[in-house]
Amino acid sequence: MTGHAAILKSTGDSRVADRAQKMADAAERCARIVRNFLALARQRPPERGRVALDQVVHEAVELLAYPLRVDSVEVALELARNLPALWADAHQLHQVVVNLVSNAHHAVREATSPRRITLTTRQEAGGGSVVLEVADSGRGIPREIQARLFEPFFTTKPPGQGTGLGLALCKGIVEAHGGSIEAASPPGSGAVFRVELPVENAPVAAAAARAAAASPPVRGQRILVVDDEAEIAALLSEMLAADGHRVEIAANGVEALEKLGAGGHDLVISDLRMPELDGPGLYLEVTRRHPALLRRMVFVTGDTLGPESLEFLHRTNVPTLGKPFDLDDIRRVVQQVLV
Ligand SMILES: Nc1ncnc2c1ncn2[C@@H]1O[C@H](COP(=O)(O)OP(=O)(O)OP(=O)(O)O)[C@@H](O)[C@H]1O
Ligand SMILES: [Mg+2]
Repeated sequence: MTGHAAILKSTGDSRVADRAQKMADAAERCARIVRNFLALARQRPPERGRVALDQVVHEAVELLAYPLRVDSVEVALELARNLPALWADAHQLHQVVVNLVSNAHHAVREATSPRRITLTTRQEAGGGSVVLEVADSGRGIPREIQARLFEPFFTTKPPGQGTGLGLALCKGIVEAHGGSIEAASPPGSGAVFRVELPVENAPVAAAAARAAAASPPVRGQRILVVDDEAEIAALLSEMLAADGHRVEIAANGVEALEKLGAGGHDLVISDLRMPELDGPGLYLEVTRRHPALLRRMVFVTGDTLGPESLEFLHRTNVPTLGKPFDLDDIRRVVQQVLV
């Protein structure tokens, strides 16, 4: 755009040059808006808290209820019960739902009846993620523009009616949450936008964190650190030793069981994925051999958890220590388990 404007400016006609300058300025302005917008979505990390997705859906639909009613758009909610809470930025997710519903609104307005928008939520098989679908009875998305929908500034709306930033913003937000968004347009029906968000474990509950901060750190415990990554094990044990704990290291579940056999441990902090015997395997053995230690286990989690790990953590409800951690996180989790 700016390149074309520059060529026009050099034609010699001052009126053309003047307009070309205006075009260049507008292009510049637009590019800035996009950058700002995307920075907003991508670079500001989500301010996460416990979020109930169905509540976000209800609030977004409520916000748009009036204009939808004016256009006789019927909104159906098919929300799964007992969805796990998300660890997410409620405000950002709200923006996503509002954008998808306003797009759907726009699409059905152009179609004759029925004008219908359906919002569906469900937990994906395996429980590792939650899905939100926004489907409409509009004309669907022409194949030739499907690939471009999420591009910033891509719009088919007349000038002044759309910025083309809605879906780019949605994509930025969803990806910042570790999720994905895609559009489908099955033949003979309208568009379906599908958002998938991972179910992540909240770090140690805020109340426990406050309690931990209020009391002096626990000291002098005998702690077994189990991790096949020597650096992480060393880091953890150094930090624990700095708080006056006596620390031993095991490289996997088998070694851990050998050490636990000697008795006298107060706490086990273990990785999930390890060769020989992994975290869930170790947990199972501890259930059999050292049941008293069961409530004294903590698992270290990375940012990518497979569905099996997630299922294990949900089922057992063991406290977790998310990577990267600092001394405060470690104290908090030690306190949580030992107090
Ligand atoms: N539900 C839908 N059905 C059909 N086409 C859609 C639907 N949602 C989005 N689109 C297409 O994707 C384009 C881009 O959507 P996006 O939300 O990014 O921008 P916009 O809606 O055009 O502008 P704005 O969001 O600023 O109002 C739309 O112009 C439209 O062509
Ligand atoms: Mg839009």
